[in-house]
Amino acid sequence: MEAHETFSERLENVADKVTVALDALIPPVAGPEGQLLSAMRYMALGNGKRIRPFFVLECGRLFDINERSLLRVASAVECMHAYSLIHDDLPCMDDDDMRRGRASVHKAYSEPLAVLAGDALQALAFEILSDEDTHAGPKVRAELVHRLARAAGAQGMAGGQAIDISVTDNELEVPLIARMQRMKTGALFQFSAEAGAIMAQAGSDAFAALSGFAHDLGLAYQIADDLLDAEGSESGTGKRVGKDADMGKASFVLALGPEQARKRARMLAEQSKRHLEFFGSNAAILRQSVDFVIERTR
Ligand code: IPE
Ligand code: IPE
Ligand code: MG
Ligand code: MG
Ligand code: MG
Repeated sequence: MEAHETFSERLENVADKVTVALDALIPPVAGPEGQLLSAMRYMALGNGKRIRPFFVLECGRLFDINERSLLRVASAVECMHAYSLIHDDLPCMDDDDMRRGRASVHKAYSEPLAVLAGDALQALAFEILSDEDTHAGPKVRAELVHRLARAAGAQGMAGGQAIDISVTDNELEVPLIARMQRMKTGALFQFSAEAGAIMAQAGSDAFAALSGFAHDLGLAYQIADDLLDAEGSESGTGKRVGKDADMGKASFVLALGPEQARKRARMLAEQSKRHLEFFGSNAAILRQSVDFVIERTR
């Protein structure tokens, strides 16, 4: 990183690189399955913030992992995230017609293709991680696959999404909301922050610092998302707003009100920065990223 580079320049730089990597990893194809690949590309190459890839790259740099390998892991995480968004928008889930300022995948293509594009993106994430190009060591590759599987499955994102659809605003218990958000959003953040330490086979102190950092930050990220749903604009966020209250979604914003929710996000953000002390000045850009997470408008 150049010394003068700010967080937003750095994020833009990562976003460009990961988009180029994804473009190569999901080549368009002709023939009857062409529409599936097209739907996968539509979501994966769309205008996302790429915050998870940012954490893969910036946390990985702490251990001097080469950028090419980190970009592959970042692409795998972004494929997993893209899959989660496609399925999250389906009529049987949040029923959202807009994502990243344009039609959701099931609107731009069809519901069956949206289901399949999500399935295929999830599979692709594991295909990328298990490839020798990602890391020379088979044990490390297996560990990456294992950890991403846990982050995405019943104990992670899918489990959190299951709680999300089952809990209503009649059941606004703060510990349950925190658990749901840590699973549906925090787990993938945690994998993103830990991936470099896994690849470097880093010591338990470094690993614990990154886990703690992402644990608090992932929750703060989802609270910020919920605040944007309550207070943000469709043009700013690129997605429908006010939908959580309409659907009676359990969130800190609904349970505690926006002021307390914001306070909690700030507290978590400060807490997450404390874990970075372990890395001293090497973690300067990560500290900046924490402020973005809670102050963002998109
Ligand atoms: C949206 O994620 C869904 C959540 C888990 C909060 P992002 O806010 O990272 O969405 P994109 O990728 O930038 O569109
Ligand atoms: C999404 O949470 C969490 C996922 C794992 C996809 P939301 O349902 O609040 O995300 P948005 O607001 O639709 O992006
Ligand atoms: Mg949802
Ligand atoms: Mg949603
Ligand atoms: Mg939301």
